[in-house]
Amino acid sequence: MIKKIAILCAGLLCFVGNLYAVTDGNMAKLTQDAMEILESNRCLVCHAIDGKKKVGPSYFGVYGKKIKVKEGGVEKEVLVDDRYLKDAIIEPNKEILVGYPANMMKSYKDILTPEEISTLIEYFKILK
Ligand code: HEC
Repeated sequence: MIKKIAILCAGLLCFVGNLYAVTDGNMAKLTQDAMEILESNRCLVCHAIDGKKKVGPSYFGVYGKKIKVKEGGVEKEVLVDDRYLKDAIIEPNKEILVGYPANMMKSYKDILTPEEISTLIEYFKILK
């Protein structure tokens, strides 16, 4: 009986351990895929991933934050979510982050695939 429980527990530990390994692996893969996109498209020339301000804002910890943007000259508060980030990449001059210059970033609408944009957004979510 004790032996059976021991085997069961070991099996359970192994299962939990595997679950962790899978999520760690997924995060490593996501980071690697996103970094490839950011590097090959030179996003990192203007954006840091460690919180430092460059020409553009850092991606670190932005997801879920409320920020101030100007749209058509009018200042408003928006939530950094999937919608905002997607628009920031495909239509960067629609909502301009307050404190940063307009017309610096070009549209990546015809440069990045929808899958690449999703990968970036998923990566920004875990970057904190
Ligand atoms: C020439 C410099 C430059 C390059 C290259 C550039 N950006 Fe930007 N980006 C900016 C600036 C400046 C802003 C802030 C002004 C604005 O809202 O457009 C910005 C804003 C953003 C935002 C909104 C972030 C926030 O916190 O509000 C995202 C997301 C973004 N860029 C993604 C990208 C991605 C992805 C790439 C590469 C595919 C890229 N950028 C390339 C300059 C750049």
